[in-house]
Amino acid sequence: MSEPQVVRYDVEDGIGVITVDNPPVNALGPGVREGIIDAVGRGNADPGVAAMVLIGAGRSFIAGADIRQFGKARTLTTGQSTKALDESAKPVVAAIHGYALGGGLEHALACNYRIAVPTAKVGLPEVLIGILPGGGGTQRLPRLIGPKAAMEMIVSGRHVPAAEAKQLGIVDELVDDKDLRGAAIRFAKGIASKRPLPRVRDKSDRLAEAKADPGMFEAMRKSIARKARNQKAPYHCIAAVEAATKEPFEQGLETERRLFAELENADEAKALRYAFFAEREVAKIPGAPKDYKPPRIKTAAVVGAGTMGGGIAMCFADYGIPVKIMDATRETLDKGLQRVRDNYAVSVKRGSITQAQMDERLPRIQAVERYEDIADCDVVVEVVFERVDVKKEVFAKLDAVMKPGALLLSNSSAIDTDIMANMTNRPQDVAGAHFFAPANVMKLCEVVKGTKTSNETIVGAMQMGRDVGKISAVAGSCDGFAANRSRAPFITEMMLMLEEGALPEQIDKVMVDYGYPMGPFAVNDLSGLDISYDTRKRRAAADPNYRKLHVPDRLVEMGRKGQKTGAGWYRYEKGDRTPHPDEVVKSVIADVAKEFGIEQRTFTDDEILRRLLLASVNEACKILEEGKAYRASDIDVMWLHGFGFPRYRGGLMYWADTVGSKAILDQISEWHERYGARWRPSNLLREIGEKGGVLREAKAGVPL
Ligand code: 3HC
Repeated sequence: MSEPQVVRYDVEDGIGVITVDNPPVNALGPGVREGIIDAVGRGNADPGVAAMVLIGAGRSFIAGADIRQFGKARTLTTGQSTKALDESAKPVVAAIHGYALGGGLEHALACNYRIAVPTAKVGLPEVLIGILPGGGGTQRLPRLIGPKAAMEMIVSGRHVPAAEAKQLGIVDELVDDKDLRGAAIRFAKGIASKRPLPRVRDKSDRLAEAKADPGMFEAMRKSIARKARNQKAPYHCIAAVEAATKEPFEQGLETERRLFAELENADEAKALRYAFFAEREVAKIPGAPKDYKPPRIKTAAVVGAGTMGGGIAMCFADYGIPVKIMDATRETLDKGLQRVRDNYAVSVKRGSITQAQMDERLPRIQAVERYEDIADCDVVVEVVFERVDVKKEVFAKLDAVMKPGALLLSNSSAIDTDIMANMTNRPQDVAGAHFFAPANVMKLCEVVKGTKTSNETIVGAMQMGRDVGKISAVAGSCDGFAANRSRAPFITEMMLMLEEGALPEQIDKVMVDYGYPMGPFAVNDLSGLDISYDTRKRRAAADPNYRKLHVPDRLVEMGRKGQKTGAGWYRYEKGDRTPHPDEVVKSVIADVAKEFGIEQRTFTDDEILRRLLLASVNEACKILEEGKAYRASDIDVMWLHGFGFPRYRGGLMYWADTVGSKAILDQISEWHERYGARWRPSNLLREIGEKGGVLREAKAGVPL
């Protein structure tokens, strides 16, 4: 079988058209760079060709280098194919639709002109996979739009919409999206004889901005210091742009290449590449009908106007989907809507949305009081009180009114999906959609598959999550589902380490140093210590072997519920959220230790980190073993988007592999002996650990 042709070349009306055709996103995979170089050569050699167009087939221009090829030997670099464009004696026009990202935009920048359709997006998102633009992007973009704007784009990695790209000067002209190829050919004919050829590399006027504001690079370093801690790529991006302002073009390219090489195979880049593909893998549902496209959600309903219900309604409204929010009384609805209004107002005040956006979004949320009013919605998310009898009643009513084919979803964080599904005559249409609080901010939506949930419903619920900007991951129905269940042992260990002599501030510091935005105790102070108090009491009553967590229980009983009461794990000054370590907490810990005869000792940072994360790794293995998640990498996605796990560490199971499955099994076995049943190594961990296998590739032991 012959290789598919990834770059085509044809001539129309005296213009050589170079079409990259490498589905799905025209990444610069094997043969693409070669094809571009070859086509540019053909265009230049053909006296019948006056100019050329570089365009993408299918849904995009070029989405960048093929990320799967990083770390492997490459025959050609982006630098070589961009050089061919740069050195073309005849002008080349980049015609952009869909995405021009990374190496894709770098190819466009090496062309003499760029036109785009209004829906196109451009960007240099390399930093998000732990590298920097390595095909001249850090040298050309500052020359084209100025170092400050270029640095902002490169360090954030954001996608810039076409209109803004035009404003910035990245794109020369916006054209109608009905016939991009035709528009590009016409544009190319218009500029074919213009000389000298405009080349980004030759521009220098915008570089003067750096002379006028030489502190801009240091200021940028300072501004990213907190977010980019432990990472190299964002700083290398700044260094490369700085080089563009100080070094001649060719030398700047050398610097870019050197900095790129330092990043490509670093741990940070490997972990981020893993996270990128884990996020794509998570959307794949084993056993789902191939190519099944769920019907688009045009209208949604939320039952329950509490904080969570309001947050979920905002998710729909934010993404242009009209949503009805239902509750039993007008009063609850009014309160709920007021909360939504207040939340939007805060966002406007903070500048994260504009007043116009708020005015557009709010009317999409309509308050209704009767089930009949939501009957024709494509999806309904139940967000009522977490009580089985209440949920059962809601699902029986939903079954009675909702149109056939509607997705019936529950936001319960604990109740078995089957209980709700069994109240309906359509259990195949019922699933969980577990949003994380605050729902309009947190990215994760855990889609929970009940025993009878159809794969079509799962695909539909996943698509719904995607449509409202979430990353969805599937879990099987079990206590805590996959995300919270895998995190629960982390919480238990952080409390129990206190009894043995660690302090909240020490544990928090270890986790912040590791990369979490906040330590787990500080987070607990924010969410409230009382939230899990009742659950613990219930569990303790139901299970005689339940290991009580005395320290948090006592704090709650003392009225220390976190920031809202001015004290929890830390003490807070009025009107200030800074946590201050508190002697009271120390003495509660000491009392508990004394009362239960627990020996006090010191902990190393490494022991704290391992004890917290390994408890969760073991639980994640149990979850997989029981078929409550499809893949280990899905659990990583849950940790990245549900719990603030540092992305540049890949995820819980990716990190576990950096420790090694054998070492983990040994450690957990040792703790099993020391601490008892809660550290029993899971069978899956045993199986993988004994062989020294890879944890992040583990799959569900039984079908979900
Ligand atoms: N390399 C390899 N595969 C890629 C890819 C890339 N750059 N970009 C996307 N894909 C694959 C995805 O893995 C997925 O494959 P699958 O169907 O087998 O899972 C498929 O293309 C579709 O991707 P998405 O599901 O993400 O499609 P969306 O439409 O949601 O998003 C996108 C499209 C915005 C282009 C998104 O895929 C994306 O952000 N891609 C990465 C872009 C990027 O980082 N480019 C820079 C690469 S590094 C570089 O260019 C270095 C240079 O400076 C030298």
